[in-house]
Amino acid sequence: MKNKILGFLSAVMLLGMVGCTPAKETTETKTETKTETASGETVKVGVSIYKFDDNFMTLYRNEIESYFKSLNDGKTYEVTIQDGKNDQAEQSNQIDNFIQQGYDVLIINLVQSTSAATVIDKCASANIPCIFINREPEEADMSLYDGKDYEGKYTYVGADARQSGKFQGEIIASLENKGDLNGDGKLQYVMVVGDPENVDAKYRTEFSISQYKEVSGLDVEKLDEQRGDWDQAKGQEIVANALSKYGEKVEVVFSNNDSMALGASQAITAAGRTVGKDIYLVGVDALEEAKQFIKDGTMTGTVLNDHVGQSHTAVDAAVKAVNGEKLEKYYWVDYVKITPENVAEFLK
Ligand code: BGC
Repeated sequence: MKNKILGFLSAVMLLGMVGCTPAKETTETKTETKTETASGETVKVGVSIYKFDDNFMTLYRNEIESYFKSLNDGKTYEVTIQDGKNDQAEQSNQIDNFIQQGYDVLIINLVQSTSAATVIDKCASANIPCIFINREPEEADMSLYDGKDYEGKYTYVGADARQSGKFQGEIIASLENKGDLNGDGKLQYVMVVGDPENVDAKYRTEFSISQYKEVSGLDVEKLDEQRGDWDQAKGQEIVANALSKYGEKVEVVFSNNDSMALGASQAITAAGRTVGKDIYLVGVDALEEAKQFIKDGTMTGTVLNDHVGQSHTAVDAAVKAVNGEKLEKYYWVDYVKITPENVAEFLK
């Protein structure tokens, strides 16, 4: 936290720098909430998102920004959000710079969750609180500072990906025919995977199927499983290939997220198939477009990945940490199943 004089000085320095630096990179957004404060306290918040070009994380980061703006606690929040460009080296530089520039708290959506330990060590040396979001670090990393001074100064805010996978499995298992269109007692499926390094992808891939089997009592046959990097175009390509290879054998497409499911939906339509009639399609996130597709019948279901709840929890944790309160190690936000029955409640 900077006092009034320091805040004024840094503002003057920033103004000075503007004159001699090139235009600000488009990959960075800076927001200042100009709330007049009694104490004049300015809190510098450094945010790095694994990449800006991700539908879900775009909603998430916009919500971080607007929620900070809505805070009315007498402080000025200067929020800098940077694009990690899906490059861990780039993101590590951003984090180093935040630390060097004396930021008060960091909110980090890691490019690689395996980098958590390094980031935690850096933040601990500088005694800057760090809130991890969306990409869950290993449990061992989250416990590195147990019993030490830095304990309670870093946390992970997220949703338990096992739950989202289970919900996907349940959505298909609770269809009247349990998704088994050809009635052979087995579910023939294609899995579109996000990024296998990410626990969200790992757990959704695993738990959608284990829960499907448990609830339906049927067996499964995996026709194809491909990595789509959470990306719509890749989802489309994977499903187009699977449909041309396996044709009507494909009964269900499980997609680790909605962006790839939207791509899958394009491929399904292009192949002359009809969701709800001769194929099923389920995603995760509840992007606005996916919810519309569920309403129209072109997607079977999705699972709300609550970016509003998660971003608000992350910001609240950042504020707590700045105020010197001890953080929990984890803050969990629930997923919610979305099907044609309840989609209307979730549409804007
Ligand atoms: C979301 C994906 C997103 C990924 C980014 C996941 O929780 O479901 O849509 O691409 O996070 O890490």
